[in-house]
Amino acid sequence: MSTPELAQTSSTGRKKEEIYASEAAFFDAIAEGEVEARYGGELKIRPEEHLATLKLYGLEHDLTGKRVVDCACGTGFFSSLLAMRGAEVWSFDLSPRCVEVTEERARANGVGERVHASVQPFEHLDYEPGSYDYIVGKNILHHIPKIEEAGEMMFRLLKPGGKALFYDLQATNPILMFFRKYIIGKVSFIPKRGTPDEHPLTADEVEALSKVFEGRVKVTYPKFRFFGKFDRQLFARRYKPITALCDGLDGFVFKYFPSLRKYSYKIFVELTR
Ligand SMILES: C[S@@+](CC[C@H](N)C(=O)[O-])C[C@H]1O[C@@H](n2cnc3c(N)ncnc32)[C@H](O)[C@@H]1O
Repeated sequence: MSTPELAQTSSTGRKKEEIYASEAAFFDAIAEGEVEARYGGELKIRPEEHLATLKLYGLEHDLTGKRVVDCACGTGFFSSLLAMRGAEVWSFDLSPRCVEVTEERARANGVGERVHASVQPFEHLDYEPGSYDYIVGKNILHHIPKIEEAGEMMFRLLKPGGKALFYDLQATNPILMFFRKYIIGKVSFIPKRGTPDEHPLTADEVEALSKVFEGRVKVTYPKFRFFGKFDRQLFARRYKPITALCDGLDGFVFKYFPSLRKYSYKIFVELTR
């Protein structure tokens, strides 16, 4: 793993090197549990059940011949799904265990030849410049200490006209940000669930990405997420009626109050090279 410029610090004041080590340890530890919890220990994917995920990214068409980078692939669910759609996929993550599971999952789904996984940091990838059609990621931009570095890397890797597509977390909702700052992790019964250095994307960070991509950025809100965030934080989405109520309220706001969508915890960012 090449990690130049390690002297730089994040907004929490920790050096990038420390952040990388802490992120890798955190996600190494949950890699196994995630496979168990989300997929019942089953690495196999039934692609017909995940059309909505592909549609969210506008990648439901045949991807044969397309070169795709899956950023911070985690346990490789999306990498395999894209490869099963025909794409050649380059997946990376800081967590060695996540990369191993990504490879296992790709083999289990018969696409081991088309998923190339490695341990690398987003900001210093060794991939071939100007050669990728799509760069995709879920819940990763908010883990990057200096977002412009990731932006510049993506700009370098994409083919002209290529797209970077991210479904992520954002910081525009003042109520959620108040809870994040003053409540979560500060009281014993509401533990912090993420890593110490992650932070939802700010408007300035989206603007920084837009600058790198010379203004070719499109932000959308495919979902309103507010009540669901409280459910996750307070109850870990364990109680079906509460989850149904919270998701229902979020759906109601999304449908009837479109002007509030920009306060959703979830954001979709599309950048065009
Ligand atoms: C919230 S998980 C998301 C995983 C996956 N994209 C998904 O949605 O299941 C964030 C992932 O980012 C990885 N990560 C964090 N910082 C990174 C960086 N600078 N470069 C590469 N991977 C990173 C972590 O190891 C972790 O697997």
